[in-house]
Amino acid sequence: MTPSIQIIYASQSGRNQAIAGHLQAQLASQAQTLVTEVSQADAFDLLANDAVIVVSYTFHDGDLPDEAQDFFADLKEVDLARTKFAVLGSSSKKHIHFGRAVDYLTIQLNASNGEQVADSVKIDQDPDDADWARVDQLAKRVLASLAE
Ligand SMILES: Cc1cc2nc3c(=O)[nH]c(=O)nc-3n(C[C@H](O)[C@H](O)[C@H](O)COP(=O)(O)O)c2cc1C
Repeated sequence: MTPSIQIIYASQSGRNQAIAGHLQAQLASQAQTLVTEVSQADAFDLLANDAVIVVSYTFHDGDLPDEAQDFFADLKEVDLARTKFAVLGSSSKKHIHFGRAVDYLTIQLNASNGEQVADSVKIDQDPDDADWARVDQLAKRVLASLAE
């Protein structure tokens, strides 16, 4: 059966939205994909997917985006029952806490009993070719984990 993958993104100036769109394009031939902006995402619905990919920028002083706070709070209440997941995001090395939102989301999805199937990927601002290769590698790992 075709696996279902939900891609949830937070993006203020468009980089992470573009990454989410790229992931969808990479995955669409082999999975049913749903792209959701994080303020519209329901953490309690994640179990309906075979895998979840979260794409987020970092804001304030190494914090989650404001619009991701509700999703993150709900995540603490959810048992993901080993739902497969991966996390990535564009943020900026100009800030001290580079990509901290990626760390927080990775830690929480693990704590919520998700199964991490790819190393988390942090991208400095606009992705370069090497970054896109890392994004594609993450997508491949997610697909491979679903074929197991
Ligand atoms: C007010 C502000 C605070 C930020 N704080 C951080 C931070 O603490 N750590 C970090 O890595 N990036 C930080 N960033 C950088 C963004 O995460 C980065 O520009 C990211 O690529 C934006 O993604 P988007 O285009 O999807 O919105 C900050 C950006 C702004 C505007």
